[in-house]
Amino acid sequence: MERRDFIRDALAVASGAATLAAASRATAKELKIPEAGGSDPRDSRFWRHVREQFPLTDRRTYLNTGGLGASPQVSIDALQEKMNALEEISEVGHTHDLWQEIKSSAGRLLGCEADELAYTRNTTEGSNIVCNGLPLKPGDEVITTTHEHVGNTIDWLARQRRDGIVVKAFTPSMASAQENVDRIEALLTPRTRVLSLSHVTCATGQILPMQAIGELAAAHDLWYFVDGAQSAGMMPVDVKSWGCHAYATSGHKWLLGPKGTGLLYVSREAQEVIEPKFVGAYSAGGEWDMITTGEFAFVDTAQRYEYGTVNVPLFVGLGASMDFLLRIGMDNVWRRNHAMGAALKEGLNELGARVLSPQHAEEHSSIITFKIDNMPYQKLQRFLSREHKLRTRGIYEGGLNGLRISLHLYNDFDDVDRVLAGVREAMQA
Ligand SMILES: Cc1ncc(COP(=O)(O)O)c(C=O)c1O
Repeated sequence: MERRDFIRDALAVASGAATLAAASRATAKELKIPEAGGSDPRDSRFWRHVREQFPLTDRRTYLNTGGLGASPQVSIDALQEKMNALEEISEVGHTHDLWQEIKSSAGRLLGCEADELAYTRNTTEGSNIVCNGLPLKPGDEVITTTHEHVGNTIDWLARQRRDGIVVKAFTPSMASAQENVDRIEALLTPRTRVLSLSHVTCATGQILPMQAIGELAAAHDLWYFVDGAQSAGMMPVDVKSWGCHAYATSGHKWLLGPKGTGLLYVSREAQEVIEPKFVGAYSAGGEWDMITTGEFAFVDTAQRYEYGTVNVPLFVGLGASMDFLLRIGMDNVWRRNHAMGAALKEGLNELGARVLSPQHAEEHSSIITFKIDNMPYQKLQRFLSREHKLRTRGIYEGGLNGLRISLHLYNDFDDVDRVLAGVREAMQA
């Protein structure tokens, strides 16, 4: 579907919803997430309560968290309050304590220390920092997949063109996790230096076996970069247990944060190797000597990948979103998300649609991609948008030509039923 169609449809929905949204904003602050609850993915009372924390309109069904996540009111309020407060005094608002506090929440979600995290604007920025900062020589090889997002593809291709590295890609197997490890192994040569893969692919929501790939990377002394755009906030993440050197994600997808925020994890070991290319006031540690020696030092943390002034209220909003997720509990969020993904996958199987995501429960996520015979995905997408008010995303990556449904905590099993009803109708048309 054309982007402008979405914008037109979304604007129509938005103008009608303005009053509703204002009403929900007025009450959202008073709502509290129950401390206990959420462990049952079908506890509709609890999850409806969670849904009420979002100003997201009910006038269409939002199924594109893989593109952009909706923010809870608590995050929007935190951002706006910080912005108002800072504008009154015209200050940046960046303090060491605030930076550490927000990074501590992020560290709890990703399984790392605050000092191993840098703020970025999006996953693509994090991926570019890693790709361009690694010391690679002409002929050095990078292994990736054909199901990566363009944001973690073009950077490697640009480096291939500029520096003569060699990018090799395999198409992920939907059959088994081990087969994907085998496909990587088959591409290894003495010149392989880097594995660059998604934890959850944007194309089919496939969960790649992070730990097994990490063991392979360690056995062959490879740099291991993980694109986490589709996993942080969807499910528990534990970067340390995978042994990856770096992991980049967006704040504005599953983490439910303000748009234009991202996080980059770089392990302490890798910080010494991945050279910061954009540097400035935030990167510098201690004194520097411009006149005699030219000596300077980077700060002793991943903050070395940050440089100039940023929009602090955005990161305050991200902190509030991450705390919101932590209060619900990532195990609860994941149980719920996975159950919705499984219900959709099963329903599509029953309808006879072609599910392109893995069938295995451990390998599919709450992103499900599918296609139906004899109907291009653009036509199906347009039909579901017009007739059923479903916001989906087409998948052209890897030549799949499918339709992607993303299900996050503000979605419901009723949304799954809506998708199935729409697909059934499309198949009968
Ligand atoms: C796997 C993956 N990587 C990177 C990106 C790019 O994200 P951003 O635009 O936030 O940089 C996306 C976006 O959908 C993605 O799915």
